[in-house]
Amino acid sequence: MSKKILVLAGDGIGPEIVAEAVKVLNALKAEGAIDVTLEEALVGGAAYDAFGDPLPEETLAAAKASDAVLLGAVGGPKWEPLHISKRPEKGLLGLRAGLGLFANLRPAVLYPQLAAASTLKPEIVSGLDIMIVRELTGDIYFGQPRGIETLPSGERRGLNTMVYTESEVERICRVAFDIAMKRGKKVCSVDKANVLECTEMWREVATKTAADYPEIELSHMYVDNAAMQLVRAPKQFDVMVTGNIFGDILSDCAAMLTGSIGMLPSASLNEHGQGMYEPIHGSAPDIAGRGVANPLATILSVAMMLRYSLGAPEAADRIDAAVSKVLDQGLRTADIMSEGMRQVGTAEMGDAVVAA
Ligand code: NAI
Ligand code: MG
Repeated sequence: MSKKILVLAGDGIGPEIVAEAVKVLNALKAEGAIDVTLEEALVGGAAYDAFGDPLPEETLAAAKASDAVLLGAVGGPKWEPLHISKRPEKGLLGLRAGLGLFANLRPAVLYPQLAAASTLKPEIVSGLDIMIVRELTGDIYFGQPRGIETLPSGERRGLNTMVYTESEVERICRVAFDIAMKRGKKVCSVDKANVLECTEMWREVATKTAADYPEIELSHMYVDNAAMQLVRAPKQFDVMVTGNIFGDILSDCAAMLTGSIGMLPSASLNEHGQGMYEPIHGSAPDIAGRGVANPLATILSVAMMLRYSLGAPEAADRIDAAVSKVLDQGLRTADIMSEGMRQVGTAEMGDAVVAA
């Protein structure tokens, strides 16, 4: 049966990079390699301009009715004066909540061809391939009580509360273990169990859940050490699983080991395997409309979509291989350009991936 993909191009470079990802999907479709139907809708600033709402009801309904959502990026200076409830970013948060996306998958892959882009020594990072699995709906971001209160003394006190239930921890650990089974079978669970009871429980639940996965080698690491190890010897990691706030910070750290924001995809999944797929970068207003943005992060997000939501891992592997091939051919967008390579624009890069 044909799978439904909702395409949300968004703002800034969003429409430019999404157009290239759609080219790749259509090329696979034309070959009969995948059976998909594409539908488009508005989100973010584009939706605000048309409907006064960054996440119109029709867009959320279309997202719920689809197997996967492909998102470009939202936001830009044009909408910054708006109240926070109308801001484009609100569209993203609404999609995450509306679809119940609890598992954020953030690969940090450094293609050997781009080893010079990292700020770390090539031998430390070349061939890096880590998958960070971040819980996305719990933790200190949503725990109660929260807020800023004024004490009887007149002094103010700010507070947030770290909260996880056992079932939430088990659910995200299972996602990490399932992914690791298809990779190096190593999972590092990151916590602060020496200080925070909430994460002491996290560690217990991770260990208990791992009993169902005898082939998985589970290790535990305190988050401060994990931050050090990511910079010292990142290739020791295969899959990392952690809560919302530690994952927020560690995934950005891991991403920057690769030095190229235009290369990194992401996925956010719910319990039904439905997912939203997007590059980790934003709408890059500084280069929007010039046809120079790197479309590879968005194209690699399509590969994740085929792998995790659409049951087409072979097609996903072909996209990953095609991206590696265009890098071998020496094609580079401006953000990853280096001496001796051939600089290309957004559309030329997309065409090269299709050809590869
Ligand atoms: P950004 O990621 O948009 O840009 C940071 C820098 O990286 C810029 O110099 C940009 O030109 C460059 N860059 C980003 N993607 C690129 C690509 N594909 N190819 C080449 N260069 C690229 O982050 P920034 O500037 O902080 O945010 C801009 C807007 O994007 C803001 O409105 C922000 O709220 C929004 N944003 C949206 C996100 C989303 O939709 N998921 C995520 C992050 C930011
Ligand atoms: Mg972040």
